[in-house]
Amino acid sequence: MNISDIKKQFPIFNNKIKNNDLVYLDSANSAQKPQGVINRVYDFYTKEFSNVGRSVHYLAVTATNLYENTRSSVQKYINAKDRNEIVFTKGATEAMNLIANTFGQKYLNEGDEVLITELEHHSNYVPWHFLRKSKKINIEFAEVNEDGEVTLDSIKKKITNKTKIIGITHLSNVTGAILPIKEIIGLAHSKGIPVLIDGCQSAPHLKLDMQDLDCDFYAISGHKMYGPTGVGILYAKKKWLEDLPPYQGGGGMIKEVKKQAISYADLPNKYEAGTMATAQVIAFNESIKFLEKIGIENIQNYEKELINYTVDTLKKNNSVKLIANPKNRGGVISFTMEGVHPHDIATILDEDGVAIRAGHHCCQILHEKLGIPATARVSIGIYNTKEDIDQLNSSINKCNKIFDLK
Ligand SMILES: Cc1ncc(COP(=O)(O)O)c(C=O)c1O
Repeated sequence: MNISDIKKQFPIFNNKIKNNDLVYLDSANSAQKPQGVINRVYDFYTKEFSNVGRSVHYLAVTATNLYENTRSSVQKYINAKDRNEIVFTKGATEAMNLIANTFGQKYLNEGDEVLITELEHHSNYVPWHFLRKSKKINIEFAEVNEDGEVTLDSIKKKITNKTKIIGITHLSNVTGAILPIKEIIGLAHSKGIPVLIDGCQSAPHLKLDMQDLDCDFYAISGHKMYGPTGVGILYAKKKWLEDLPPYQGGGGMIKEVKKQAISYADLPNKYEAGTMATAQVIAFNESIKFLEKIGIENIQNYEKELINYTVDTLKKNNSVKLIANPKNRGGVISFTMEGVHPHDIATILDEDGVAIRAGHHCCQILHEKLGIPATARVSIGIYNTKEDIDQLNSSINKCNKIFDLK
């Protein structure tokens, strides 16, 4: 695997940022796009455009087939049992809202508990919060430990006979911790509790196998997988998609509409109301091909080495304080520098073309627990190299000088 050849596939790196080469360390936010994905959007609009699933003319049939091909590719990529278990959404946020809304409608009642963790992104908290008001449910939080992890034990402690569903992240977008989700799913199922996994940060970096995991729901973000914005994936076991009510109403999701009664379309259309992000879904197939061509095992091995290098480099830098030390870590590393606001760190790094993210990363519960309003976050993608990390470190040192830190 040659990273320089892989990086050449991303045209963004041909541009200068403030006269510097771009060092993009913000892939957890959104990943850059390979040329194949960009071309596919262009080609679809140029040569093949039509809406899907409606008309019978040549372009419509072609577009529908292309759209459905992506569904089959996703099914294969995450080893789902059935292609109808793949629902396209506008992002992982919508996928999680879909589950909170439909599961909440059907199965949650006053006094029931939803168990999430202190690591959750707002997308796996706020949708459940809505049900506090409408259904008078309670939300419990499994605690994060000082290494930035949520253990099986901390989940176990919070499960009660009122727990109706568990929602957990696979890989924290702040601490980088990879959670023992297979064990958590096993524990939950032994008590008859379904599990929703937020797989936003894991899907681009780890091998996924829905049948092996046996989770009920898994939310994925296309734009973090080197794909276009506007594409999310909800994996849900068929039995749930058949059982739960539809999420949004409109064209495409119905079978028959009468004045007094409406029946819904078969899976997965029941959950895909209105015109979908057709070009983006079709182009997302190229993202899957891109990842498959490199091979997820190769990605995992390469990134592991780079993550270790990043952690070692930052640990050696006395001005940097890593905010977590998980034993099983993905490519997300958050830190602070005493006396420098994370936004100032990010702004100074940006002068050198080093793109990181600063803020609460949509995890205010976690930051409250940490007792800080914000952190600086480095996150890696398949185009990053050790040279990028060296540049990051030298820009941090520059920041150090500006703020006159010891
Ligand atoms: C852990 C996590 N969950 C959910 C989301 C939201 O994903 P999307 O942008 O696809 O809605 C993000 C994006 O930052 C994330 O990092």
